[in-house]
Amino acid sequence: DAKQYFSKELLAWYQLVKRDLPWRKNRDPYRVWVSEIMLQQTRVDTVIPYYERFMAKFPTVRHLAEAPEEEVLKSWEGLGYYSRARNLQAGAREVVERYGGIVPDDKEAVASLKGVGPYTSGAIMSIAFNRPEPAVDGNVMRVLSRYFCLEDDIAKPSTRTGIEKLAVSLIPEGEAGDFNQALMELGALVCTPKSPVCLTCPVMEHCAGRLAGKETELPVKTKA
Ligand code: ADE
Repeated sequence: DAKQYFSKELLAWYQLVKRDLPWRKNRDPYRVWVSEIMLQQTRVDTVIPYYERFMAKFPTVRHLAEAPEEEVLKSWEGLGYYSRARNLQAGAREVVERYGGIVPDDKEAVASLKGVGPYTSGAIMSIAFNRPEPAVDGNVMRVLSRYFCLEDDIAKPSTRTGIEKLAVSLIPEGEAGDFNQALMELGALVCTPKSPVCLTCPVMEHCAGRLAGKETELPVKTKA
């Protein structure tokens, strides 16, 4: 059906075209965590050099926890949204104090860390630990709204909850990390906000939004 087709084709496409990004070198949960925090309000191309410098300077949770805050903020200079850096360091200190410096393979524990919201905890649990958790941000809501032609307002919490349930149901057995990153990759490279490049899309054939001619009208979002 349309769901199985989507999951299978998307994952196959991702294995072929995925970008060689520094946080994809391994599944170290600390590396995934730092990358997801940096990527929250900042583009991939901007993040890459900051990420490389940050990981060289603070290679482990413990290095980050024990650094002077001003050193951490200095590494963040130019990325903006400095509360992200302060919260990340506070989270690292929590991991050292509560879990001996090891990011726990536990959804509730990860979700309770400073600065880690539902999206980030889902990204860490799936990418680092391969747990079947949703990692639904604006890009993923756009991709799924279009493919399934969902016309509910994505500004509504109930719409997000529904899309999270749908996202979990799409995860192929044992492939949560790659599948969630494949969704992000499709949103970044193909199913872009204004001019989606449908002709290069691995799931165009069964995209209900495109079949309805509504791909650029979706997702529906009321202004804040
Ligand atoms: N945006 C958010 N998380 C990402 C990831 N892991 N890879 C690429 N882009 C992202």
